Amino acid sequence: MKRFVNYLLIAVAIAFSGCVKKAGEPAAPAANVSGQEIEKKVDALLAKMTLEEKIGQLNQYTSRWEMTGPAPGGDENQVLQEIKSGRVGSMLNVTGAQATLEAQKLAVENSRLKIPMIFGYDVIHGYKTMFPIPLGEAASWDPQVAELSARVAAKEAAAAGLHWTFAPMMDISRDARWGRVMEGSGEDTFLGTQMAVARIKGFQGDNLASTETVAACAKHYAAYGFAEGGRDYNTVDISEATLRNVVLPPFKAAVEAGVATVMNSFNEIGGMPATISTHLLRDILKGEWGFDGFVVSDWNSIGELIPHGVAANKEEAARLAITAGSDMDMEGACYITLKEQVEKGVVKEALIDDAVRRILRIKFRLGLFDDPYQYSDPEREKNTLLSPENLAAAREVARKSIVLLKNEGGLLPLKKEGQRIAVIGELAASKDVPLGSWRASADPNSAVSLLEGIQKAVSNPAAVTFAKGPDYIVGQRAFQTKLQYNTTNRQGIAEAVAAARNASVVVMALGEDCFQTGEGRSQTEIGLKGLQQELLDAVYQVNKNVVVVLMNGRPLEITRMAGTVPSIVEAWHLGSEAGNAIADVLFGDYNPAGKLPVSFPRAVGQLPLYYNHKNTGRPTGDENVVFWSQYNDQPNTPLFPFGYGLSYTTFSYEELKMSSETLAKNGTLQVSVKVKNTGSVAGEEVVQLYLRDLVGSLTRPVKELKGFEKVMIQPGETKEVQFTLTPADLAFFTAQGKWEAEPGDFKLWVGPNSAEGLEAAFTLQ
Ligand code: NOJ
Repeated sequence: MKRFVNYLLIAVAIAFSGCVKKAGEPAAPAANVSGQEIEKKVDALLAKMTLEEKIGQLNQYTSRWEMTGPAPGGDENQVLQEIKSGRVGSMLNVTGAQATLEAQKLAVENSRLKIPMIFGYDVIHGYKTMFPIPLGEAASWDPQVAELSARVAAKEAAAAGLHWTFAPMMDISRDARWGRVMEGSGEDTFLGTQMAVARIKGFQGDNLASTETVAACAKHYAAYGFAEGGRDYNTVDISEATLRNVVLPPFKAAVEAGVATVMNSFNEIGGMPATISTHLLRDILKGEWGFDGFVVSDWNSIGELIPHGVAANKEEAARLAITAGSDMDMEGACYITLKEQVEKGVVKEALIDDAVRRILRIKFRLGLFDDPYQYSDPEREKNTLLSPENLAAAREVARKSIVLLKNEGGLLPLKKEGQRIAVIGELAASKDVPLGSWRASADPNSAVSLLEGIQKAVSNPAAVTFAKGPDYIVGQRAFQTKLQYNTTNRQGIAEAVAAARNASVVVMALGEDCFQTGEGRSQTEIGLKGLQQELLDAVYQVNKNVVVVLMNGRPLEITRMAGTVPSIVEAWHLGSEAGNAIADVLFGDYNPAGKLPVSFPRAVGQLPLYYNHKNTGRPTGDENVVFWSQYNDQPNTPLFPFGYGLSYTTFSYEELKMSSETLAKNGTLQVSVKVKNTGSVAGEEVVQLYLRDLVGSLTRPVKELKGFEKVMIQPGETKEVQFTLTPADLAFFTAQGKWEAEPGDFKLWVGPNSAEGLEAAFTLQ
């Protein structure tokens, strides 16, 4: 992300003293203020506010020095004046202890009521120390890992003066063409919910007022991942049942976990843009679920109601959005029209009061009224960012996110000595790509590259040769602009082939540049771009001992690769410590245990692809007959299924037992299975439990994940894993529009992924 001149720094020449905490010390959390006390304070403040000041709280502007959306118009000096007059409630993209301190002073020292601004930023997978992209982290199937990375990210962000992260993204994504697949936990609602809740806990901790935590934001509400054709910002048209059963559960769980804020999605659902969906915002979020935080629009999503064709102008857009329950206007400059509309009686002031109350409530909870500068401490920032313990956590999370997809003939793990290793591919030497998209304030080129990781791990770095191969990206690589791939210049292939010929083993990094994924990065093809496949073919021809290390932010179409090379390691974009973490796995210092949080397709034409699909009236049967719900040129099944991942050891599943064959209405069902490590090294296995409701009032998925447990098992050891099911685990949004479990027969599987497992059956009474 290119830095623009920080107009705040230039425009403000204020000297500071006395507002900085003692060097490096986190501020003591504000005294535990009860909810009631906060409500009283909110009411008292609200009573003092003019209409203009109230509307000011609903406005959020971006700093011009870093932009995460289309450039705003308007005059920068105007924004400064607005801040000073108390007409800006929040800013995004102002970062760093010094800059936030100065910006906050503008608001607090100049405005009549001295209401602090809340500073938000996209701290998606780290602030300065980068963790794996969320999709990769979800492959750990370990909520504790997600909580840890969010905790570290919050600590760093809060030390840099931020109060609020626009994360976690909890959109379920079934279509790998969509670039934002990288930002969520994949295709499954159950896994996605566990990871989202863990991230919220990590960001917010137990006390929002602590200077080591930030407010989280459940986004994008709702169904953004269901954009037609996987094209970003595109139309969504899904049923209420899909909305309730698949899309909304993570958001509901987020509200139950106390998430402070929620962000609208850009899309419409069935003709209604989410930003003005009374059904989503007032009925469900604030009504049914009792959410008491505030809703922020997405970047100009209120202004975009005009091109959506539901509002004729900004006034109408503002009126529709505030009425539906969107509380803060991100970079839309629409809500500033509300003053006149309230004065004319077109918009009720009570609507404004409700939105302001919600925003003030979160500001009080963050402790901003106790000390508006408590987060902005340059000394603490210096001591916190990129600290050795943060980097150690990043390495730990990164290696837990790696998935071993193929390892024929036990080519992996590699030996640290006695092997000549050829490391091939531009991505292998990149210190930037592993940082991933949505990299917050990461320093460019600051990751440990795969090449560096390997060189550090082996006993003789001179036995490692590197050949870049042909260029992958030509021209500029940037967050905001389209990438161009080299498809013509083959220079470098011959050198790579020569290196492979002389090596005992080849480690090739292939996949995606990090800016190939993320917002606005939809693709019609999801295979290897540029000359990567050609390079792989040429190398494989001279040396069959190829380990492919994939770096990518979405499931890739790698059918051809999977049919040839013996070993494939899925290494996503793993963050600051990527190279070290991958080397840990390649050389067996860490036994990989990750499992795919998304299905990998055989062909892009299978998309959307997800394991928990419906059966249809014509499930696949005799594949030589056409009258089934199937493709004529490919099987329906994925190349690698959801939940799949190998280890350097092997596991067997035995003795699936249930406490009963029936589950009573208020009862519980105990399920147990024995998992044996049948290999020769210790390893972790993610034991997965899936259910199928055989007959429902609405059609039900062929399988649904309902539990998982990660267990470490020593060679030869058998561990019993237990799950407890209750009718609540079987509940869904029924034809009657109720969330309940319907009596009847269920199938159950416990196994290593969504396509395998031991099977049993029970009846819900
Ligand atoms: C637009 C993105 O959709 C959203 O996720 C992000 O938080 C905002 N821009 C702010 O950068």
